[in-house]
Amino acid sequence: MSNTTAEVYLDTNRTIAPISPLLFGGFAEHMGRCIYEGIYDPESAHADEYGLRKDVLEALRGQAYTVIRYPGGNFLSGYNWLDGVGPKKQRPHRRELAWQSTETNQFGTNEFMTFCKAIDVAPMLAVNMGTGTIQSASDLVEYCNVLGGTYWSDLRASHGYRAPHDVRYWCVGNEMDGPWQIGHLDAVEYGKKALEAAKMMKWQDPTIETILCGSSSDLMPTYPEWDRIALEIAWEHVDYLSMHYYTNNREEDTASYLASALRFERFVDTLDGTLRYVKAKGRSRHDVYLSWDEWQVWHSIGTPMLGEWTEAPHLAEDVYTLEDALVVAQWLNVFLRKSHVLKIACVAQIVNVISWLQTRGDELLKQSSYYAFKLVSNLARGEALDVLVKAPIVQTKQYDGVPTLDVSSSYEVETGQGAIFLVNRSQTDAIVTDLIWQNGKTFLVDKAWQLSGNDPKESNTWDQPNRVVTNPISPPTIRGDRAMVQLPPLSFTAITFCRDSTNQ
Ligand code: AHR
Repeated sequence: MSNTTAEVYLDTNRTIAPISPLLFGGFAEHMGRCIYEGIYDPESAHADEYGLRKDVLEALRGQAYTVIRYPGGNFLSGYNWLDGVGPKKQRPHRRELAWQSTETNQFGTNEFMTFCKAIDVAPMLAVNMGTGTIQSASDLVEYCNVLGGTYWSDLRASHGYRAPHDVRYWCVGNEMDGPWQIGHLDAVEYGKKALEAAKMMKWQDPTIETILCGSSSDLMPTYPEWDRIALEIAWEHVDYLSMHYYTNNREEDTASYLASALRFERFVDTLDGTLRYVKAKGRSRHDVYLSWDEWQVWHSIGTPMLGEWTEAPHLAEDVYTLEDALVVAQWLNVFLRKSHVLKIACVAQIVNVISWLQTRGDELLKQSSYYAFKLVSNLARGEALDVLVKAPIVQTKQYDGVPTLDVSSSYEVETGQGAIFLVNRSQTDAIVTDLIWQNGKTFLVDKAWQLSGNDPKESNTWDQPNRVVTNPISPPTIRGDRAMVQLPPLSFTAITFCRDSTNQ
């Protein structure tokens, strides 16, 4: 291992934008064992009075989620929400076509609301734009949000939920650009349907915010035309454009994989540009932001993912490594750096399916990237800072000009608390890094944590569940306006700092 040096310049006046709390969201789909055996398992020794797994709830609370998207995903586009409400014994068992599983409907909209309350998150519901109609979308808003005295709101009350659920965030369909989607549409067809659905939904409740389906990834042949066309049609009735993106290191090119933030940033920048273009073209005063409502490392993507008509099949139960955790940490850095336009993000998914949280019987395993997410979601508050990084630049097979450090920072003026998040992408070099506060105020370094290792493929297992975790480290000492921190290769470090109120 050799040493190189870097400098990170921080100025608490040099801000990007407030960090939207909704950047720390999750996604729960009726897929595999996310719902059944994941969050809902009445047979488990951990089940609470509602059948929710208390151990899973506790782990999710630890991750400080703020919003959860539900019920899909590809599942959404064949789902009739009426199947999942009312007396459980009368709910139909159905063939679920997206994942070729059997759906028992024992968990539905109302159970999801109970789950959201239990972990104190905002619900984000999605309406079916595949087999669903604009009427069924509007009816679901009425069922959830209208106080009472109408057919659908009274039906909710008759199901035991007198108070409205007050769901604010609504996805208008899921990945409608994808030919794999049930009821897939082209951009014009979708734009028109989404516009009419969003209009009716907002007439039901003008306080809701709607999310238009954007491209399912930057690899789609229709990207970014799909986004432009759908936005031009539906602009005035939607508030966010969705982004979906999954990555992995299938090429076994770890240096490029560890530069993933460059790709993530390019994806945001292109769609940011698309939003600006459509707003200008329409001479609009309305703003639309980005909702990255599916993101994750997905190693098994593209392999057959079918449940052979069983209930809660094992699907996409991926193993996550140190390098995956470092990619997740970069993803979160990008969220902070793009705070001006990115307002919602939901990791797909929160348990068992493409998830860093796994259940096995009554056991629970936290995989590497659980810890990276937990650090950032608990520490990033206030404004994102526009950090200047001077670090050695390397080339990888897929990218030119990759800085060896990937950094973001947050600062909350009211409390005087800040945090710095640093990924050292190098597989060989420790980086001796000077953190330099530029705006003449005195700061104290508070605490520091690190997740690191020698082997990028290291992972937590049922037998050894603590191989890749975050550990507290001694916080670097500030001398004057700077502090020096040693960042080992393949590491993620979070450092908190605070304004020195005795010396302002
Ligand atoms: O999260 C898994 C699947 O990935 C979702 O159902 C779909 O929207 C995406 O393709």
